[in-house]
Amino acid sequence: MARDRTLKVSVWRGGIAGSLQAFEVPRHPSQTVLDVVTYIQRALDPTLAYRYACRVGMCGSCAMTVNGVPRWTCRTHVDKVVSQDRIEIGPLKNLPVIRDLVTDMREFFDKWARAKGQFAPTRSRREEVHAVTPDSRERIQADAGIECIGCGVCYSACDVVAWNPDYLGPAALNRAWTLVKDERDGAKLERVRAVAGDAGCHSCHTHMSCTERCPKRISPTAGIAGLKREILKSVVRGEL
Ligand code: SF4
Ligand code: SF4
Ligand code: FES
Repeated sequence: MARDRTLKVSVWRGGIAGSLQAFEVPRHPSQTVLDVVTYIQRALDPTLAYRYACRVGMCGSCAMTVNGVPRWTCRTHVDKVVSQDRIEIGPLKNLPVIRDLVTDMREFFDKWARAKGQFAPTRSRREEVHAVTPDSRERIQADAGIECIGCGVCYSACDVVAWNPDYLGPAALNRAWTLVKDERDGAKLERVRAVAGDAGCHSCHTHMSCTERCPKRISPTAGIAGLKREILKSVVRGEL
């Protein structure tokens, strides 16, 4: 890649009724999409609103839509997404736009609460000394879900969220799944109930977009399938 090439960048400006604004940004080796946005904000237009914190794939705050695809921008290299020296950057889909590249994440995290995404300790004396070891494929997969950084990429990629704004979505359901499989947690049945309704895991159409897009290689789709099995077991036991 030539060092002195220029990138033509279209960036979403304004709220839901905004429009794209064109910028020209110098290309650099190993440049990330977040580097491009930061250059625009620092060198071309200080009024550009965007969010980031860690720059190393830990905080989940830098997610945006890049050429129509939701991505974590601090770990997305321009070389990977650029087409004919052009790139289009917008806010995450399926969330209200506050301004420019900043979305309102409240409904995303409110849904974690609706899915009972808080750990409920059992407080038993035995629990304090109990060492937990993965004992099944299902359990290992649920443990992987703990690595979620709450970036919202999966939520933005999910068509069911777009059709049904009440749907809890892949991240909240992934969180519920990690807790349902956590033997130290004492609210398993409440959690299964919380994800069993119309807005819960039965609305998932198993399209896998969430799993394909998750930057942490988590599979919310597999977790949702696991929750469906847990619901079925609870129905058979007469708990639901
Ligand atoms: S698998 Fe389910 S949660 Fe994931 S994107 Fe598809 S419909 Fe949404
Ligand atoms: S499951 Fe993956 S894509 Fe979804 S919020 Fe967590 S880290 Fe982001
Ligand atoms: S800035 Fe923290 S994950 Fe990208």
